[in-house]
Amino acid sequence: MTSGPLTDREISLVRTSLAVVAPQAAEMTVYFYAILFARYPDVRGLFPQNMDVQRDRLLRGLLRIIDLVDDIDNLVRFCSRLGRDHRKFGALEAHYPAVGECLVAALTRYAGTAWNSEVAAAWTRAYTIAAEVMIAAAADDTRLRPASWDAQIIRNDYRGHGIAEITVQPDLPYHYVAGQYVSMETPWYPRTWRHYSPAHPPRPDHTLTFHVRAVHHGQVSNALVHHAVPGHRVRLGPPLGEMTLAAAGDRDLLLVAGGTGLAPIRALLEQASASGMDRYVDLFVGARTADELYGLDDMLRMSQRHHWLSVRAAVSHEHIPGQRGTLPQVLREFGPWDRHEAFLCGPPDMVTTGVNTLLHQGIRRRHIHHDPLDTPVLTTPLSEHRRGQETDQL
Ligand SMILES: Cc1cc2nc3c(=O)[nH]c(=O)nc-3n(C[C@H](O)[C@H](O)[C@H](O)COP(=O)(O)OP(=O)(O)OC[C@H]3O[C@@H](n4cnc5c(N)ncnc54)[C@H](O)[C@@H]3O)c2cc1C
Ligand code: HEM
Repeated sequence: MTSGPLTDREISLVRTSLAVVAPQAAEMTVYFYAILFARYPDVRGLFPQNMDVQRDRLLRGLLRIIDLVDDIDNLVRFCSRLGRDHRKFGALEAHYPAVGECLVAALTRYAGTAWNSEVAAAWTRAYTIAAEVMIAAAADDTRLRPASWDAQIIRNDYRGHGIAEITVQPDLPYHYVAGQYVSMETPWYPRTWRHYSPAHPPRPDHTLTFHVRAVHHGQVSNALVHHAVPGHRVRLGPPLGEMTLAAAGDRDLLLVAGGTGLAPIRALLEQASASGMDRYVDLFVGARTADELYGLDDMLRMSQRHHWLSVRAAVSHEHIPGQRGTLPQVLREFGPWDRHEAFLCGPPDMVTTGVNTLLHQGIRRRHIHHDPLDTPVLTTPLSEHRRGQETDQL
């Protein structure tokens, strides 16, 4: 880092002025993008047409950076990840000063009397440090892999209840590990990225099958489920996520899947099966109704082939023979799980309640794994050091 870490005085100035603008974050972000696109019209083409959903992400990224300015290791970790992630957006080194200039202009306007030349200088330094790390990480990444992978949809198998299995064939080999997830841009919503998890370990032909559920009013998911046909082109970002078997050590596994959360869990199971696992696995599959228990039959068949796999279903809104209740309720019934390594995947509320249930049952936070519930680049945990400061709470 050419400019060196921020001084205590600079950190205090940046944080104090940020507290002043925070209540006006929404207006400030609108103003920031307005001047960015007016002053640098070429940059507009990098962003999606509809910016409503994404508008707050840049500011949330900056907030995280300011939160980490006195924790240099994690600042570098966070900005490096962000910089690598920005390659697929088409962000170039030359764009960073433009974004920095407009950010400072927006802060100047909204910080009011809290703004002066010393505060401006501190913000410029903070932004420059973050931008330098992002640019360097992106440059390093360029030497290792493409910014994104073009791929063609080759199948759309509708499984009912708004869920489709979408298979794509990347033009170049795509390497990932079972349990990871992938960001995808579709032709219907250019420059809008969503995350999906391959439902299997890597295949020799590099095809990838995603289980996509059309969510109510969801843009990308509905387009994929209802409009995707062989021949449509998509773009994939690099694989992400640490919900892999390597994270599990040698403990028995507790796998909890809700809805299409079964996709990465199934990938982990297939990998475990292929590698001759000698650990016991308890799999819980949940849905609101029996009809929505998609994929359960495949899992039951798998359990008949493997003595180490036991599969149970949880249905929350219907009486069926077998298990009834939400996944967290059923987990409570079958515990304790304190000697297991747990992997949870599914709707955010299910994962949140599931994790809290397991914490109450005595599993330590470090033995519970799940994907980020929100924008991954913003919410993926940082180093062990920072995790150590977290309590055993979600
Ligand atoms: C790490 C990760 C992995 C994921 N893996 C998968 C996967 O394998 N399969 C899959 O189908 N989805 C998966 N998702 C969710 C997926 O990325 C999209 O968020 C989802 O497809 C909705 O996108 P959309 O553009 O259709 O909805 P948007 O247009 O973004 O949202 C429209 C409305 O739907 C709501 N909404 C968004 N997502 C959901 C949701 N999941 N459930 C209920 N309401 C929602 C929004 O709050 C909004 O009101 C994953 C998400 C993450 C973060
Ligand atoms: C310190 C500087 C920056 C920070 C903190 C930052 C932060 C972020 C964050 C958190 C996201 C959301 C990522 C995701 O959803 O996966 C994002 C997206 C994006 N950023 Fe940046 N960014 C910075 C600089 C830039 C620059 C210089 C450009 C180039 C013009 C840029 C262009 C984009 C684009 C095109 C997107 C995707 C659309 C969107 O989600 O709004 N960013 N940025």
